[in-house]
Amino acid sequence: MRLSKYHEAKGEMALLEWFLLLGFSAATILVHGQPGDTMTPTKSIADGQTLISSGGTFELGFFSLGVSKNRYLGIHYGAPDKTVVWVANRISPLSGATGVLNLTGDGNLVLLNSTGYIIWSTGTSNANNPVVQLLDSGNLVLNEGTSNNLLWQSFDHPGDTMLPGMKLERNLRTNVDSTYTSWKSSSDPSPGEYSCKIHINAVPEIFIWRGSVQKVGRIGPWNGRGFAGVPDTKPHNSFTYNLPSNEYEATYSFQILDNSILYRNLLTETGAFQGLVRVKPNLAWVAYSRFPKDQCDKYAICGANGVCTASYTLACDCLRGFSPKSPQNWRLGNNSDGCVRRTALNCSSDGFFELQQIKLPDTSNATLHSNKSLEECEDLCLKNCTCGAYAINGGIGCVTWTGNLVDIRLFTDGGENLYIRLASSELGQTRGNYRKKKLVISIIISSLAGFLLLVCGIQLLWKKNRKRKQGETLSTHYREGRGNELELPLFDIHTIRTATNNFSEDNKLGEGGFGPVYKGQLEDGEKIAVKRLSKGSVQGIHEFTNEMSLIAKLQHRNLVRLLGCCIEGEERLLVYEYLQNTSLDHFIFDRKRSAFLDWQKRLDIILGVARGLLYLHQDSRLKIIHRDLKASNILLDEELNPKISDFGTARIFKMDQIEENTNRVVGTYGYMSPEYAMGGIFSVKSDVFSFGVLVLEILSGKKNRMIDQAEACVNLLGHAWRLWMEGRCLEILDESVGCAYPESKILRCIQVAFLCVQEGSENRPTMTEVVLMLSTESALLPQPERPGFCIAPPLMERDLSSNNNLTVTIEGR
Ligand SMILES: *[C@@H]1O[C@H](CO)[C@@H](O)[C@H](O)[C@H]1NC(C)=O
Ligand SMILES: *[C@@H]1O[C@H](CO)[C@@H](O)[C@H](O)[C@H]1NC(C)=O
Ligand SMILES: *[C@@H]1O[C@H](CO)[C@@H](O)[C@H](O)[C@H]1NC(C)=O
Ligand SMILES: *[C@@H]1O[C@H](CO)[C@@H](O)[C@H](O)[C@H]1NC(C)=O
Ligand SMILES: *[C@@H]1O[C@H](CO)[C@@H](O)[C@H](O)[C@H]1NC(C)=O
Ligand SMILES: *[C@@H]1O[C@H](CO)[C@@H](O)[C@H](O)[C@H]1NC(C)=O
Ligand SMILES: *[C@@H]1O[C@H](CO)[C@@H](O)[C@H](O)[C@H]1NC(C)=O
Repeated sequence: MRLSKYHEAKGEMALLEWFLLLGFSAATILVHGQPGDTMTPTKSIADGQTLISSGGTFELGFFSLGVSKNRYLGIHYGAPDKTVVWVANRISPLSGATGVLNLTGDGNLVLLNSTGYIIWSTGTSNANNPVVQLLDSGNLVLNEGTSNNLLWQSFDHPGDTMLPGMKLERNLRTNVDSTYTSWKSSSDPSPGEYSCKIHINAVPEIFIWRGSVQKVGRIGPWNGRGFAGVPDTKPHNSFTYNLPSNEYEATYSFQILDNSILYRNLLTETGAFQGLVRVKPNLAWVAYSRFPKDQCDKYAICGANGVCTASYTLACDCLRGFSPKSPQNWRLGNNSDGCVRRTALNCSSDGFFELQQIKLPDTSNATLHSNKSLEECEDLCLKNCTCGAYAINGGIGCVTWTGNLVDIRLFTDGGENLYIRLASSELGQTRGNYRKKKLVISIIISSLAGFLLLVCGIQLLWKKNRKRKQGETLSTHYREGRGNELELPLFDIHTIRTATNNFSEDNKLGEGGFGPVYKGQLEDGEKIAVKRLSKGSVQGIHEFTNEMSLIAKLQHRNLVRLLGCCIEGEERLLVYEYLQNTSLDHFIFDRKRSAFLDWQKRLDIILGVARGLLYLHQDSRLKIIHRDLKASNILLDEELNPKISDFGTARIFKMDQIEENTNRVVGTYGYMSPEYAMGGIFSVKSDVFSFGVLVLEILSGKKNRMIDQAEACVNLLGHAWRLWMEGRCLEILDESVGCAYPESKILRCIQVAFLCVQEGSENRPTMTEVVLMLSTESALLPQPERPGFCIAPPLMERDLSSNNNLTVTIEGR
């Protein structure tokens, strides 16, 4: 069990490793007499030697990437993280560890291979007393020592990573136009397909390009504080974004306000623009913001004058007053031709239709009028017959558009309002808001209808297949019971030994319930986590085979992926994908890290877990009860997508089976439903109960532990219920959720959680209902009854409150 347990040890290990490496680096400096953070013409840096910035944050040196044997010179974070942020010779790798970095007497920094051939250089010259220094910001600067005259800096030559203080800049006067380019792959830093640049439109916008002609994304528009099109880039109390601009120049950069935080922007190989955050000295990077988030962020996905909605699936609609240019293509789901006006404008008698909460269209052909009020802006647009729409863009001013409106999407929260000019016949008698609401509502209704149709269709198919499936499930189940015919890749023990460095202590991530867990890397570079069954563990063998046979058949983005297993001699190993962000409990219960979980992130996590659980309960080929759902069993990937793990205690039900009774109660106090903890009865509804507890924990940032053994009902559930009854339930929210959240949605979420933890299991909703209630605004919610929170554990001997995270087993009631 406990794939996730290994993460517990990880924090301390990282720290230890860090100190060890720090000590080691210090020793290297002494031995090699290295120059610290500076370099002068008398010194050179050979492969194996480094420059370390004064605070130890960054290091300049030679390295190889991934599976490649090529050597590169560049800058990476100090040990142990070593994430590379800049590469000097990204297009001309060295073939062996023989490179040397020299600074010539007149100030040229050159990288030579062993035959003295110049692989890369700064191309600077004619300097007196040149000095190279690696600053703690990660900037490598070349100065004229005497005058401190800056000759060259790595910040002016970006790759795929943007660090605090670095700029994304366009200046038409000086012709500076900085471009970030993605890597080809994680082991090849040469320029890949994607690049991002800033454009000086009416409002500055950052575009992501694929090649040099195809716009694939638009991070914008800038509204004076952040990018309105990317709600995640709103300012945070740990960092701020800046983008001063005028008609000649625009410069995007960001600053860190909190020293314990590291932040970088990354343009990935697949063209995504991520803001990554790390709390020192923790190893895991968290994607704090990311673009694109969904299909609607793909540039102009709905064509000109189309609007994209991403509630369930991609949905394109035409703006009001517009209709598809090629209706047949549009019906077939090809929206590239976009929409055209139904009624031509008549200059003198037009009106405006207000479309709320959207990402404003591409401002390439728009005009900015500073210092104008909404009324003045409308006036301006009305007076000019070519003006087709206007908007007030945050703190920047009035923007007017001519021609097509391209790349509009709807947001559920935030966004700006756009006023679209329409012929009076398109506006009808009533004006303004009412009509806009109708549009939004009709969009919602049409996407809802689509969704329901889909659900019905699936259900029909499901019913049709059900009979056949049942037999199938059972027979597969039996076959597995005999332990053969597993459709699971088998790893050979040598591969695992190589990947984990022969199960070395350094690779050990922690100790799980049935044995240690190791981190490893396969030859192709893929990172894995290996669970190794301790020899002679009978209990373990049971859980091992259970977990293996179960999870091998499951595939869902919210379940941890089993890559294979290894059974050789005495060895029993399970090989999983490695998730670097550890488990959910390390985020929600940690003050620093929870600051990166705003309301939207928390909701995404809740929905992810709900979908994973729904899959287990009914959408997979089996019906599975997890029985030990809790925060430490939810792993998080780089983008904080949740993945349910640990199937050691899960049970397969027959499709029509409702519940089962066991005299081996396994699970975790605090998460167990009353009927399970006390009666050993488990069903999908006991998982629903655990889910409800988890939701409250995610929202409150508090554990559902018993605060006081004597006073039985003061766990989180009891506390939250009291606040709910008193109408103060927003008070349970974690402080770091901030205050910019939609109150009604949070209330809805809390209410769903209470419905899940009701005492009577028959009153609790199924996961299907939970997912629907969480993702639609319109579903009416019943009033929850009192939760089953006073669970007196039946056979509690040890002090469970001090260690309530532990999965316990109680046998023979
Ligand atoms: C590079 O520096 C090393 C050590 O200072 C020196 O031996 C070597 O000749 C230099 N190479 C060139 C091409 O300047
Ligand atoms: C150094 O680079 C030159 C030019 O790329 C190449 O011809 C030569 O073989 C390289 N030397 C080594 C030892 O790699
Ligand atoms: C969509 O329609 C356009 C123009 O009619 C055509 O060029 C394009 O290939 C179509 N795309 C797809 C995916 O069919
Ligand atoms: C515009 O509308 C007004 C009133 O409906 C009408 O009198 C006028 O002729 C129209 N102008 C054009 C150019 O269609
Ligand atoms: C801006 O105008 C140019 C020239 O008319 C056109 O090719 C381009 O598609 C327009 N861009 C947008 C975003 O409307
Ligand atoms: C906008 O108004 C402010 C204060 O009234 C003024 O200081 C500023 O110069 C104006 N900006 C422009 C572009 O007119
Ligand atoms: C109307 O708007 C267009 C585009 O913004 C601009 O070029 C033109 O000068 C404006 N005309 C008047 C009369 O302001």
